[in-house]
Amino acid sequence: MSHYHIKSEKQYQEAYLESVKNPEEFWAQIAENFQWTKKWDTVLNFDFSKPEINWFQGAKLNITENCIDRHLFERANKTALLFEPNDPSEEAAHITYQQLHDRVCQLANVLKDKGIKKGDRVCLYLPMVPELAISVLACARIGAIHTVVFAGFSASALAARILDCDCKLVVTSDGAFRGSKTIDLKSIVDNALKNCPNVKTVLVVKRVHSEISLTENRDLWLQPLLDKAEKTCTPEVMDAEDPLFILYTSGSTGKPKGMVHTTAGYMVYSAFTFKNVFQYEEEDVYWCTADIGWITGHSYIVYGPLANGATSVMFEGVPSYPDYGRFWDIVQKHKVNQFYTAPTAIRALAKEGATWPSTYDLSSLKVLGTVGEPINDEAWHWYDEHIGKGTCPIVDTWWQTENGGILITSLPGITKQIPTFATLPMPGIQPCLMDENGEEINTTEASGGLCIKFPWPSIARTIWGNHDRYRDTYFSAYKNKYFTGDGALRNAEGLYRITGRVDDVIIVSGHNLGTAPIEDAIDEHLKVSESAIVGFPHDIKGNALYGYVTLVNSLSTSSETETNQLKKEINDLISAKIGPIAKLDKIQFTEGLPKTRSGKIMRRILRKIASNETNNLGDISTLLNPEVVEKIIEERL
Ligand code: WT7
Repeated sequence: MSHYHIKSEKQYQEAYLESVKNPEEFWAQIAENFQWTKKWDTVLNFDFSKPEINWFQGAKLNITENCIDRHLFERANKTALLFEPNDPSEEAAHITYQQLHDRVCQLANVLKDKGIKKGDRVCLYLPMVPELAISVLACARIGAIHTVVFAGFSASALAARILDCDCKLVVTSDGAFRGSKTIDLKSIVDNALKNCPNVKTVLVVKRVHSEISLTENRDLWLQPLLDKAEKTCTPEVMDAEDPLFILYTSGSTGKPKGMVHTTAGYMVYSAFTFKNVFQYEEEDVYWCTADIGWITGHSYIVYGPLANGATSVMFEGVPSYPDYGRFWDIVQKHKVNQFYTAPTAIRALAKEGATWPSTYDLSSLKVLGTVGEPINDEAWHWYDEHIGKGTCPIVDTWWQTENGGILITSLPGITKQIPTFATLPMPGIQPCLMDENGEEINTTEASGGLCIKFPWPSIARTIWGNHDRYRDTYFSAYKNKYFTGDGALRNAEGLYRITGRVDDVIIVSGHNLGTAPIEDAIDEHLKVSESAIVGFPHDIKGNALYGYVTLVNSLSTSSETETNQLKKEINDLISAKIGPIAKLDKIQFTEGLPKTRSGKIMRRILRKIASNETNNLGDISTLLNPEVVEKIIEERL
């Protein structure tokens, strides 16, 4: 019996048991649902101590044949991508599987013509327009490794990523529509490329029709090239473990980590989880509101849905434009059946009141999903009551960029749901909780550091160019276990609730931000000596950033104007180095930062002060400079 589509709690339990008892047999039968040029020799080889992980070794395939070609027999005229533009008066585009095939092949041929070969890296810096999904697939068609950079990142963040994986070509656009604003993406690319001599070609999508400059011998409008290109392109035959893409995620220290995902395992797991977590049926219209610049968009707008022959909505705009009813207008207009968004969006929309959703027909909705951070009880109930009308199951899906697909979630209408609990592991996922001594906790009811004990097909295989960092970050905290960096609790029934990061990563509006890169950006200011960033609770963003900054030579800001000017300069620096998403909500100038005797900044204390939990700071007497703590509390913002 195939476990590919789980339809009942009993089937979930059977699948789960089988996946733990006989993981290789389990994943082999799931993999039978795909199209292979050659099947695997072995299902799994792994050694977490190296770490080395191989799935479906020996198999040959191309993921675009699975996401496109194999659907052409039955679904050629079915909508694959349903593009909803920023401006609601512009018509939505229904791109069928046949059209997707033709457009992907054309772009693949253009890439080949520009010298891109199997294994080359291609950077995609685009708004949420169809060309983004098409470029992703075109790279996969010819075996080029795509690295999508979210178009909210600054020129220097973009350059850092292009340089880290040595991209040869960039696809961008003349600009991006974002609500009432137009963003000039091309000049961001131009600035980034000043330091990236190996990028020989920039292909430019015409979207906003603004005047932009093209650099000779480097920049080309894409459309005329596509018009001349063939609509067929033989898929490159890939090994199961050939890299499919690199996606950067923040680390708690240092530069962003280029997570490498490989072909077969990623395909099998993203498709399997899409089918089951959303219970997608043939006629459904599915919509994930994420940007393809994040892993959620890779796995659950592009690859997972298309591998299942689904109709996947791609939205260019923002939830507030032209008004706060936009999401619900889209649900009504396209009769969306599954809707997947982030807690921060739910909170922002809830704040605008329930009148917005109440004026639209949301009766098409069957399943609601959330992802990116823990969802608070209030937001969960608002979502349930005003969007799901009390009848749609909500899947709270926990996972990470490094994971490739959803690891812990309920299955809608199938397994139990509890507000704020992600609940149960997907088949193949073996979570465990670790205590402070590094031992696995064996009682059911427990809380601790969340690890995964056994590989699943879509786990990232390495960090691009830095395997040691991969091992140190994920496999060194606990022997033979993947450490997630999250804390979790498990209730008496064995259901998991994710409690949040236990490291120096802060999730702001669902974006994963490392404190170190932000501190590095601030420290570049000539007047700044040192800084420390912590998170504090925020109604809409979940967490916001609080920065403690000391100035050189114990400079102090003398006037309010000067203070405000300096704060602005600091945030401008952060915007330029990382992007506006990393700006600080509060900046406190202080004479010193609390430090241990070995000189380590005590963020734990700073975190408590920022969250106004000053009555239980713990023992501060062992600090190098306990006196600064009082001063910081006094001047807290
Ligand atoms: C971190 C990963 C892949 C999803 C998009 C974010 C937090 C994610 C949940 C959830 C509680 C969640 C975790 C995780 N997170 N989903 N449903 N409940 N926390 O991917 O940027 O790699 O961030 O997001 O802290 O470690 P990411």
